Amino acid sequence: MNILVTGGTGYIGSHTIVELIANGHEVSVVDNLANSSVGVISRIKKITGKEPKLYTFDLCDKEATSNLFKKNSFDAVIHFAGLKAVGESVQLPLTYYENNLLSTISLLNAMLDNDVDRLIFSSSATVYGSTDTTRYRETLPAGHDISNPYGRTKYMIEEMIKDIGNANDSFEATILRYFNPIGAHESGEIGENPLGLPNNLMPFITQVATGKREELLIFGNDYPTEDGTCKRDFIHVVDLARGHVAALKKSSPGTHIYNLGSGIPTSVLQLVNTFSSISGKSIKYRFTSRREGDLAEFYADPSKAELELGWKVEKSIEDMCRDTWNWQLKNPNGYDR
Ligand code: NAD
Ligand code: UFG
Repeated sequence: MNILVTGGTGYIGSHTIVELIANGHEVSVVDNLANSSVGVISRIKKITGKEPKLYTFDLCDKEATSNLFKKNSFDAVIHFAGLKAVGESVQLPLTYYENNLLSTISLLNAMLDNDVDRLIFSSSATVYGSTDTTRYRETLPAGHDISNPYGRTKYMIEEMIKDIGNANDSFEATILRYFNPIGAHESGEIGENPLGLPNNLMPFITQVATGKREELLIFGNDYPTEDGTCKRDFIHVVDLARGHVAALKKSSPGTHIYNLGSGIPTSVLQLVNTFSSISGKSIKYRFTSRREGDLAEFYADPSKAELELGWKVEKSIEDMCRDTWNWQLKNPNGYDR
């Protein structure tokens, strides 16, 4: 298939492109490089032998987006592009609503105008909001008490996609709700490359391991979990990428929602300790107060994706730590832009 990947120079997009190419798909990329480096493209070529075509523009630009669709014939779109920093979204809500919603509206208009009717959308476990369970199934009601504007943009886009599916019989949409992606490609050629201050746990751990930061602050050790730290469902980014390939293989009209997670909760402290033993580096950490908006524990029930897409995770927490460390050692300064 000829696939357009939006946000394809980003962390999850780049790993997905490698898996798409390995499965025989043709790939084009749109990215405005707001949170990524053009150097990703040559790394993808190094791994796969193929260079995806990169279009560098902002998807909020309706004219540029429309022109891209007029000049190409895409079979499907995988939509990763978006801003994703939870804390920043609280500070700059309008930036998040504007970027994430307008880019998606521009993309969906171009798809409908040009009869491209297959979409895979990057959503997040954050749309479940606050629930009275820790194991999330797709049938749980979503959208209640989402703690930040970023999460609300994901929920709003999900609803928009469902409405479009209801209005267009031929439109096929797959909404993938990711849990906590970490890790890197085992070649060490591509990985997570935070351009500013990292937002998430794993990049902080790595920066402490390399000495870039003195210590890791662990937000809370008084949660009702075995070791008092929060538990999350970490998923290797390559497993996550393969979930997209599996979703593309299944074609059926309507809107379908799948969790992509391992189904196994791991605590912050467990991740720190595993990383430390795999890398051979001691990770200095200090417990501090809870971070606002954090839930004690949540993880995926991934059984729907296994049953309907034939997908499940294959990689372990050890693999995630080993591949992250390998990427970090090979690329201490990330990508050369
Ligand atoms: P990323 O920031 O590495 O990738 C997103 C890419 O989109 C970046 O390359 C950025 O430059 C691009 N982009 C942003 N706005 C754009 C616009 N208006 N036009 C064109 N390009 C634009 O993030 P990621 O971790 O690869 O995440 C990919 C998707 O998955 C995002 O939608 C994110 O919200 C979602 N997601 C990520 C996580 C996670 O923990 N990484 C969890 C759940 C969901
Ligand atoms: N944490 C620390 N110290 C840090 C960073 C994180 O203790 O320096 C803790 C957090 O308190 C949390 C856990 O590590 O308990 C994981 O935090 P992350 O920020 O890595 O991940 P979150 O679970 O908060 O959120 C992530 C993504 C969201 C997504 C969500 C659910 O950032 O976009 O997973 O998929 F919505």
